[in-house]
Amino acid sequence: MTLHLPKKVTIIEVGPRDGLQNEKNFIPTAIKIDFIKRLQETGLQEMELTSFVSPKWVPQMRDASDILASCLNPKMKHIVLVPNRKGIELVLKTPCRAVAVFVGVSDEFNKRNSNKTTAESMKELVPAVTELKGKGYFVRACISTAFYCPYKGKIVEADTIKLCQQFIDAGVDELSVADTIGMAAPHESYSLFSKITEYFPNHLITAHFHDTRKMGLANIYSALEAGIVRFDTSAGGLGGCPFAKGATGNVATEDVVYMLSRMGIETGVDGTKLVSAIDLVRPYLSSPIESAFYRLHSTAE
Ligand code: HMG
Ligand code: MG
Repeated sequence: MTLHLPKKVTIIEVGPRDGLQNEKNFIPTAIKIDFIKRLQETGLQEMELTSFVSPKWVPQMRDASDILASCLNPKMKHIVLVPNRKGIELVLKTPCRAVAVFVGVSDEFNKRNSNKTTAESMKELVPAVTELKGKGYFVRACISTAFYCPYKGKIVEADTIKLCQQFIDAGVDELSVADTIGMAAPHESYSLFSKITEYFPNHLITAHFHDTRKMGLANIYSALEAGIVRFDTSAGGLGGCPFAKGATGNVATEDVVYMLSRMGIETGVDGTKLVSAIDLVRPYLSSPIESAFYRLHSTAE
């Protein structure tokens, strides 16, 4: 049997943002900075460092400005996540040149996550994306609840594709299409990503799987077969969205890197160095690290 698989895959590390945002206890800013700096030494070239969101909604991210001031490295693609124009205004005051905006396909989720319907968020974000592109920024759009919504249930593929199209028309460089609550099964991942790669062949398409039901690696495999070569992952499998009931962390970066390397697919990321980055933040986390690679390779007590 011949597998149609790529030689190289890009990992976008989302641990410092998606991973840490769900932690209830505030993690000292200095620890976050050390964690990010260690991650920068692993070979990861693209990373979401933090988010500009309401500190009332997500207090963990209230140190976003300090994180950017200490961690931005112009040689790497460092991204900050924002939900609205206020977030974009804050980014414009920093040297960060890459922005991620996020919207849910489902109104029910979007209202809980951003206090707006999907259409209201788009009305605010579309002109903001155009403005950012005019200023030369890299813009990615994160499409939440692309497969399932914790409040509405199954999402129709056509609705996800319609939202992707609106962001493409607005001029984004990348779509990060998310299984927010880790409910997609591999055949659904294959089906949606086959369509998205067919409809938007000239854009960066990234798959963002939460691993709530342990289908993350299987979904990555089926997305690879659908032509996806970019994956958002989180060191240690940390995190989840605080406003998506029952969601847990993204599929763990170190497990993805291990699987891909065993398949002969290059990521440029060093799994052992990831383990040392996770060791640093682990004492501050509310739950244990469950990734297989970490369990087998960490020597931390
Ligand atoms: P709101 O309460 O309607 O907003 O919340 P508001 O405009 O009334 O502002 C409330 C306060 O927040 C004000 O401060 C604003 O200035 C401030 P006050 O005057 O009361 O002192 N504020 C901000 N501060 C910093 N940055 C901002 C910002 N905006 C307002 N950007 C809002 C609306 C969108 C702000 C709120 O709902 C929010 O912050 N939501 C973010 C929720 C979040 O971070 N979710 C997790 C990230 S998304 C995710 O994880 C999914 C993803 O991983 C993909 C997937 O897996 O699906 C990307
Ligand atoms: Mg996420």
